[in-house]
Amino acid sequence: MDIQTKIADKQTGKTPAKTVDKAVHKKTAQPIAMPSHIAIIMDGNGRWAERRGLARTQGHKHGVETVRKIVEAAGQRGIPYLTLYAFSSENHKRPEEEVNFLMGLVCDYVERDLERLHTENVCIKVIGCRDGIEARIRKLIEHAEQLTANNQAMTLQVAFNYGSWQEIATTARKLAEQVAAGQLQAADIDSDLFDRALTRNGLPHPDLIIRTGGEYRLSNFLLWQSAYAELIFQPILWPDYTEEDLQKAIVEYGRRERRYGGLNNATVQTINPLE
Ligand code: FPP
Repeated sequence: MDIQTKIADKQTGKTPAKTVDKAVHKKTAQPIAMPSHIAIIMDGNGRWAERRGLARTQGHKHGVETVRKIVEAAGQRGIPYLTLYAFSSENHKRPEEEVNFLMGLVCDYVERDLERLHTENVCIKVIGCRDGIEARIRKLIEHAEQLTANNQAMTLQVAFNYGSWQEIATTARKLAEQVAAGQLQAADIDSDLFDRALTRNGLPHPDLIIRTGGEYRLSNFLLWQSAYAELIFQPILWPDYTEEDLQKAIVEYGRRERRYGGLNNATVQTINPLE
C-alpha cells in the first residue's frame, strides 16, 4: 500500500485512469496504469476437478489455494481494493452438498486466514445478502469485518451470497421506503444518490473485472458498479490461475484507454471546429 496511494474518489466511485505502480514499473520497464480496484469472477473450479476425475468440490478446494496466491500477489502490487466473487445468489440452485461445501469453504478460509490477513493489515469486507444465512456464518463475517476495520494495506471484499439484481432491488426498495416516510423527495433520486445508497463499503467502483474459466459474461456480478470497468476474460480455470496471469491482466488493463464516455486528447485535437 505504501507503493500506491489510495487516490480513489470514494464519493463518486470514479478512479483516475492513470496511476503508476513502482513495482510493476520495475518489472515492465515502462510505467503502466494500475487499477485501484480489481474484481474477479473465479470461474472454472468444477471443470478443473471434472477433468481430473475428481468431485467438483475438490475444484473449489483447490480454488482456495489460488485465492491465497492472488490476494498475496495483489497486495504485493499495491492494489488497494480486491473483490472476489465467492458465492452468488444463484449458486443456491446447485446441489445442496455443493452449496454447503462452498459456504463451509469460505468460512474455513476466513477462520484460518483471519489472523494472518489482520497481521498483514488487510481490511475484510463482505457484500451480499445476510438474511437467511446461518447465524454462525453471519457472526464470523461480522467478527472478521470488525477485527480488520481499521486495516489499511488493502481491502479484500468477498462477494458472498451476492447478486446484483437483488442488490439493486434492495436499494430501490430502501429509497422507496424513505420517500414513503417523507425523508426523501422522489425527484432527488438520481444516479449519484442511488450509487451512494448501494452498499459501498468505502470502495470505489471496480476499474478492472477479470473472469477466468473461458465464459464471457458477468453473471449478476457488480452490474451497476461495472458500468465503466474494463473487462478481461482469461480462459484459465481458476485453480490453475497464477500470479503471472494476474500480471498479464494488469498489463492489458494498462494498455486500455478509459474515456468514461468522453473523448481522448488525440480525438479532441483531430476535431477542427472550422471544418
Ligand atoms: C465458479 O466455478 C466458482 C464458484 C461458484 C465458487 C468460487 C469459490 C472459490 C474459489 C473458493 C472460496 C472462495 C473464497 C474467497 C475463499 P464453477 O463451479 O462454476 O466452475 P465450472 O464453471 O467449471 O463448473
